[in-house]
Amino acid sequence: MTMDSVTQVRDFPDRSWADDGPTRGVEALVEAGEVLRFPYLPFALIESELKFRDPRWADGKAKNISLRWPGGAMRGAAGSATELAALQAMITRYAEQSEAFALRLFPHYRGHLQRGNTSFRPIDVAGRKTSWRKDDTRLHVDAFPSNPMHGTRLLRVFCNVNPSGRPREWRVGESFEAHAQRYLPTIKRPLPGSAWLLERAGITKRRRTEYDHVMLQLHDRAKADAVFQQASPQARVDFAPGTTWVVFSDQVLHAAMGGQHMMEQTFYLDVAHQQRPEASPRGTLERLLGRELR
Ligand SMILES: [Fe+2]
Repeated sequence: MTMDSVTQVRDFPDRSWADDGPTRGVEALVEAGEVLRFPYLPFALIESELKFRDPRWADGKAKNISLRWPGGAMRGAAGSATELAALQAMITRYAEQSEAFALRLFPHYRGHLQRGNTSFRPIDVAGRKTSWRKDDTRLHVDAFPSNPMHGTRLLRVFCNVNPSGRPREWRVGESFEAHAQRYLPTIKRPLPGSAWLLERAGITKRRRTEYDHVMLQLHDRAKADAVFQQASPQARVDFAPGTTWVVFSDQVLHAAMGGQHMMEQTFYLDVAHQQRPEASPRGTLERLLGRELR
Protein backbone atom coordinates (compact mmCIF):
# COMPACT_ATOMS: atom_id res chain seq x y z
CA MET A 1 0.00 0.00 0.00
CA THR A 2 1.20 3.52 -0.76
CA MET A 3 0.76 6.50 1.54
CA ASP A 4 -1.54 8.02 -1.09
CA SER A 5 -4.35 5.87 0.21
CA VAL A 6 -4.14 7.31 3.72
CA THR A 7 -6.23 10.27 4.89
CA GLN A 8 -4.58 13.57 4.07
CA VAL A 9 -3.83 16.08 6.84
CA ARG A 10 -3.53 19.64 5.57
CA ASP A 11 -2.15 22.55 7.61
CA PHE A 12 -3.45 26.13 7.50
CA PRO A 13 -1.91 29.31 8.92
CA ASP A 14 -5.01 30.86 10.54
CA ARG A 15 -4.54 32.62 13.87
CA SER A 16 -8.07 33.95 14.28
CA TRP A 17 -11.48 32.31 14.70
CA ALA A 18 -13.22 35.39 13.35
CA ASP A 19 -13.89 36.51 9.79
CA ASP A 20 -10.47 38.12 9.34
CA GLY A 21 -8.64 34.77 8.97
CA PRO A 22 -7.24 33.79 5.57
CA THR A 23 -8.85 30.39 4.94
CA ARG A 24 -12.31 30.28 3.34
CA GLY A 25 -14.20 28.28 0.75
CA VAL A 26 -12.49 24.94 1.52
CA GLU A 27 -15.62 22.78 1.25
CA ALA A 28 -14.02 20.61 -1.44
CA LEU A 29 -11.15 19.61 0.86
CA VAL A 30 -13.24 18.63 3.86
CA GLU A 31 -15.79 16.88 1.61
CA ALA A 32 -12.93 14.88 0.06
CA GLY A 33 -12.24 13.44 3.53
CA GLU A 34 -9.18 15.49 4.49
CA VAL A 35 -8.30 16.56 8.03
CA LEU A 36 -8.00 20.36 8.12
CA ARG A 37 -5.45 21.24 10.81
CA PHE A 38 -4.83 24.73 12.23
CA PRO A 39 -1.65 24.58 14.38
CA TYR A 40 -1.82 28.30 15.36
CA LEU A 41 -5.46 28.49 16.40
CA PRO A 42 -5.78 28.03 20.17
CA PHE A 43 -9.01 28.37 22.08
CA ALA A 44 -8.02 31.07 24.56
CA LEU A 45 -9.04 30.60 28.17
CA ILE A 46 -9.30 33.55 30.53
CA GLU A 47 -7.43 33.44 33.85
CA SER A 48 -10.43 32.30 35.89
CA GLU A 49 -11.12 29.42 33.46
CA LEU A 50 -7.69 27.77 33.71
CA LYS A 51 -8.82 25.77 36.74
CA PHE A 52 -11.44 23.98 34.65
CA ARG A 53 -8.71 21.91 32.95
CA ASP A 54 -9.03 19.25 35.61
CA PRO A 55 -11.03 16.00 35.57
CA ARG A 56 -12.62 16.92 38.91
CA TRP A 57 -15.15 19.12 37.07
CA ALA A 58 -16.61 16.04 35.38
CA ASP A 59 -19.34 14.41 37.43
CA GLY A 60 -17.85 10.94 37.04
CA LYS A 61 -20.81 9.49 35.13
CA ALA A 62 -20.42 11.00 31.66
CA LYS A 63 -17.08 10.97 29.82
CA ASN A 64 -17.64 14.57 28.71
CA ILE A 65 -19.08 17.80 29.98
CA SER A 66 -21.47 18.90 27.27
CA LEU A 67 -23.93 21.56 26.22
CA ARG A 68 -27.11 20.70 24.33
CA TRP A 69 -28.61 23.11 21.84
CA PRO A 70 -30.89 24.93 21.48
CA GLY A 71 -30.80 26.25 25.00
CA GLY A 72 -27.25 25.28 25.90
CA ALA A 73 -28.09 23.32 29.08
CA MET A 74 -24.98 21.69 30.56
CA ARG A 75 -24.61 18.03 31.50
CA GLY A 76 -21.88 15.99 33.10
CA ALA A 77 -20.35 18.69 35.33
CA ALA A 78 -20.11 18.99 39.09
CA GLY A 79 -19.45 22.18 41.09
CA SER A 80 -21.07 25.19 42.74
CA ALA A 81 -23.69 27.19 40.84
CA THR A 82 -21.23 30.05 40.27
CA GLU A 83 -18.52 27.71 39.03
CA LEU A 84 -20.89 25.83 36.76
CA ALA A 85 -22.11 29.09 35.22
CA ALA A 86 -18.51 30.07 34.45
CA LEU A 87 -17.78 26.65 32.95
CA GLN A 88 -20.93 26.85 30.84
CA ALA A 89 -19.91 30.31 29.62
CA MET A 90 -16.51 28.96 28.57
CA ILE A 91 -18.01 26.08 26.58
CA THR A 92 -20.63 28.41 25.05
CA ARG A 93 -17.84 30.67 23.82
CA TYR A 94 -16.25 27.66 22.12
CA ALA A 95 -19.58 26.88 20.43
CA GLU A 96 -19.87 30.44 19.11
CA GLN A 97 -16.26 30.74 17.95
CA SER A 98 -16.25 27.38 16.21
CA GLU A 99 -19.55 28.15 14.49
CA ALA A 100 -18.29 31.48 13.14
CA PHE A 101 -15.13 29.68 12.04
CA ALA A 102 -16.99 26.85 10.28
CA LEU A 103 -19.14 29.34 8.38
CA ARG A 104 -16.03 31.17 7.20
CA LEU A 105 -14.36 27.93 6.09
CA PHE A 106 -17.52 26.62 4.45
CA PRO A 107 -19.72 29.51 3.24
CA HIS A 108 -21.70 27.05 1.12
CA TYR A 109 -23.14 25.58 4.33
CA ARG A 110 -24.46 28.92 5.64
CA GLY A 111 -28.07 28.60 6.76
CA HIS A 112 -27.80 24.78 6.81
CA LEU A 113 -25.26 24.03 9.52
CA GLN A 114 -27.12 22.89 12.60
CA ARG A 115 -25.37 23.20 15.95
CA GLY A 116 -25.13 19.88 17.81
CA ASN A 117 -23.56 19.23 21.21
CA THR A 118 -20.54 21.17 22.40
CA SER A 119 -18.26 19.20 24.65
CA PHE A 120 -15.31 19.69 26.93
CA ARG A 121 -13.32 16.53 27.63
CA PRO A 122 -11.05 16.97 30.65
CA ILE A 123 -10.52 13.22 31.05
CA ASP A 124 -7.49 11.31 29.79
CA VAL A 125 -8.24 9.19 26.68
CA ALA A 126 -5.90 6.45 27.90
CA GLY A 127 -7.74 5.92 31.17
CA ARG A 128 -11.03 4.85 29.61
CA LYS A 129 -11.91 1.19 30.02
CA THR A 130 -14.70 0.16 27.72
CA SER A 131 -16.15 -2.50 25.40
CA TRP A 132 -14.61 -3.01 21.95
CA ARG A 133 -17.59 -1.32 20.33
CA LYS A 134 -17.10 1.87 22.34
CA ASP A 135 -13.30 1.72 22.18
CA ASP A 136 -12.32 4.84 20.24
CA THR A 137 -8.63 3.86 20.24
CA ARG A 138 -9.63 1.58 17.35
CA LEU A 139 -9.90 3.06 13.85
CA HIS A 140 -13.52 3.79 12.94
CA VAL A 141 -15.94 6.13 11.21
CA ASP A 142 -18.51 7.65 13.56
CA ALA A 143 -21.86 5.84 13.57
CA PHE A 144 -24.14 5.28 16.54
CA PRO A 145 -26.42 2.33 17.32
CA SER A 146 -29.19 4.42 18.91
CA ASN A 147 -28.97 7.51 16.73
CA PRO A 148 -29.58 6.87 13.00
CA MET A 149 -28.37 9.85 10.96
CA HIS A 150 -30.25 9.14 7.69
CA GLY A 151 -27.28 10.51 5.76
CA THR A 152 -26.96 13.74 7.74
CA ARG A 153 -23.28 14.62 8.00
CA LEU A 154 -21.25 14.98 11.21
CA LEU A 155 -18.86 17.90 10.96
CA ARG A 156 -16.62 18.32 14.00
CA VAL A 157 -14.35 21.13 15.17
CA PHE A 158 -11.82 20.01 17.79
CA CYS A 159 -9.28 22.01 19.79
CA ASN A 160 -6.58 20.72 22.12
CA VAL A 161 -6.51 22.86 25.30
CA ASN A 162 -4.04 20.71 27.25
CA PRO A 163 -2.01 22.86 29.71
CA SER A 164 1.13 20.69 29.90
CA GLY A 165 2.23 20.31 26.28
CA ARG A 166 0.57 16.97 25.61
CA PRO A 167 -0.63 16.41 22.05
CA ARG A 168 -3.90 14.81 21.15
CA GLU A 169 -2.73 11.67 19.41
CA TRP A 170 -4.78 10.24 16.57
CA ARG A 171 -4.33 7.57 14.01
CA VAL A 172 -6.02 8.20 10.67
CA GLY A 173 -6.75 5.42 8.21
CA GLU A 174 -7.57 4.66 4.61
CA SER A 175 -10.01 6.67 2.48
CA PHE A 176 -13.73 6.12 3.02
CA GLU A 177 -14.06 4.57 -0.42
CA ALA A 178 -11.26 2.06 0.22
CA HIS A 179 -12.82 1.29 3.58
CA ALA A 180 -16.26 0.72 2.09
CA GLN A 181 -14.78 -1.58 -0.56
CA ARG A 182 -13.03 -3.57 2.16
CA TYR A 183 -16.25 -4.54 4.00
CA LEU A 184 -19.23 -3.93 1.67
CA PRO A 185 -19.07 -7.36 -0.03
CA THR A 186 -19.73 -9.09 3.31
CA ILE A 187 -22.38 -6.73 4.71
CA LYS A 188 -25.85 -8.25 4.40
CA ARG A 189 -29.05 -6.27 4.07
CA PRO A 190 -30.93 -5.69 7.34
CA LEU A 191 -33.52 -8.33 8.19
CA PRO A 192 -37.03 -7.37 7.03
CA GLY A 193 -38.89 -5.66 9.87
CA SER A 194 -35.75 -5.17 11.98
CA ALA A 195 -35.73 -1.37 11.62
CA TRP A 196 -39.36 -1.22 12.76
CA LEU A 197 -38.61 -3.49 15.71
CA LEU A 198 -35.55 -1.50 16.83
CA GLU A 199 -37.52 1.73 16.78
CA ARG A 200 -40.54 0.14 18.44
CA ALA A 201 -38.36 -1.25 21.24
CA GLY A 202 -36.78 2.17 21.83
CA ILE A 203 -33.31 0.94 20.81
CA THR A 204 -33.13 3.54 18.03
CA LYS A 205 -34.42 7.11 18.34
CA ARG A 206 -35.84 6.93 14.81
CA ARG A 207 -35.91 4.41 12.00
CA ARG A 208 -32.55 2.83 11.17
CA THR A 209 -32.36 3.13 7.39
CA GLU A 210 -30.23 0.84 5.26
CA TYR A 211 -27.69 3.66 5.08
CA ASP A 212 -27.50 3.65 8.89
CA HIS A 213 -27.27 -0.12 8.91
CA VAL A 214 -24.29 -0.09 6.54
CA MET A 215 -22.52 2.72 8.44
CA LEU A 216 -22.95 0.90 11.74
CA GLN A 217 -21.66 -2.30 10.17
CA LEU A 218 -18.57 -0.43 8.89
CA HIS A 219 -18.02 0.97 12.39
CA ASP A 220 -18.40 -2.44 14.06
CA ARG A 221 -16.50 -4.52 11.49
CA ALA A 222 -13.53 -2.18 11.63
CA LYS A 223 -13.36 -2.12 15.43
CA ALA A 224 -13.72 -5.90 15.68
CA ASP A 225 -11.05 -6.60 13.04
CA ALA A 226 -7.65 -6.86 14.76
CA VAL A 227 -5.80 -7.38 11.45
CA PHE A 228 -7.39 -4.27 9.98
CA GLN A 229 -6.51 -2.24 13.08
CA GLN A 230 -2.89 -3.29 12.92
CA ALA A 231 -2.09 -3.73 9.25
CA SER A 232 -4.31 -1.36 7.25
CA PRO A 233 -2.86 1.83 5.72
CA GLN A 234 -2.65 4.39 8.50
CA ALA A 235 -0.68 7.30 9.90
CA ARG A 236 -0.12 8.75 13.33
CA VAL A 237 -1.19 12.40 13.63
CA ASP A 238 -0.43 14.67 16.56
CA PHE A 239 -2.46 17.75 17.44
CA ALA A 240 -0.33 19.87 19.77
CA PRO A 241 -1.94 22.10 22.39
CA GLY A 242 -3.25 25.23 20.67
CA THR A 243 -4.18 23.26 17.55
CA THR A 244 -7.68 23.19 16.06
CA TRP A 245 -8.78 20.59 13.52
CA VAL A 246 -11.90 20.06 11.43
CA VAL A 247 -13.19 16.80 9.93
CA PHE A 248 -16.28 15.02 8.75
CA SER A 249 -16.01 12.29 11.42
CA ASP A 250 -18.54 10.02 9.65
CA GLN A 251 -16.07 9.85 6.73
CA VAL A 252 -12.53 10.08 8.12
CA LEU A 253 -11.19 6.83 9.64
CA HIS A 254 -9.85 7.95 13.01
CA ALA A 255 -8.73 6.63 16.39
CA ALA A 256 -7.98 8.66 19.53
CA MET A 257 -4.82 7.15 21.02
CA GLY A 258 -4.01 9.64 23.74
CA GLY A 259 -4.39 13.12 25.11
CA GLN A 260 -6.34 15.06 27.65
CA HIS A 261 -8.31 18.33 27.66
CA MET A 262 -10.12 18.85 24.41
CA MET A 263 -12.93 21.04 23.15
CA GLU A 264 -15.27 19.65 20.51
CA GLN A 265 -18.20 21.12 18.57
CA THR A 266 -20.45 18.93 16.43
CA PHE A 267 -22.45 20.33 13.51
CA TYR A 268 -25.05 18.51 11.47
CA LEU A 269 -25.34 19.13 7.75
CA ASP A 270 -27.97 17.64 5.49
CA VAL A 271 -26.15 15.83 2.73
CA ALA A 272 -28.17 17.75 0.09
CA HIS A 273 -26.46 20.96 1.25
CA GLN A 274 -22.95 19.74 0.60
CA GLN A 275 -21.16 21.29 -2.31
CA ARG A 276 -20.83 17.78 -3.78
CA PRO A 277 -23.38 15.42 -2.17
CA GLU A 278 -22.00 12.59 -4.30
CA ALA A 279 -18.71 12.79 -2.34
CA SER A 280 -20.52 11.95 0.92
CA PRO A 281 -20.45 8.49 2.53
CA ARG A 282 -24.00 7.93 1.30
CA GLY A 283 -23.09 9.01 -2.24
CA THR A 284 -20.02 6.77 -2.19
CA LEU A 285 -21.89 3.74 -0.83
CA GLU A 286 -24.75 4.18 -3.33
CA ARG A 287 -22.28 4.41 -6.21
CA LEU A 288 -20.43 1.27 -5.08
CA LEU A 289 -23.68 -0.66 -4.54
CA GLY A 290 -25.39 0.66 -7.65
CA ARG A 291 -28.58 1.48 -5.82
CA GLU A 292 -30.11 3.92 -3.34
CA LEU A 293 -29.84 3.37 0.42
CA ARG A 294 -33.09 4.46 2.08
FE1 LIG B 1 -15.00 8.82 16.61
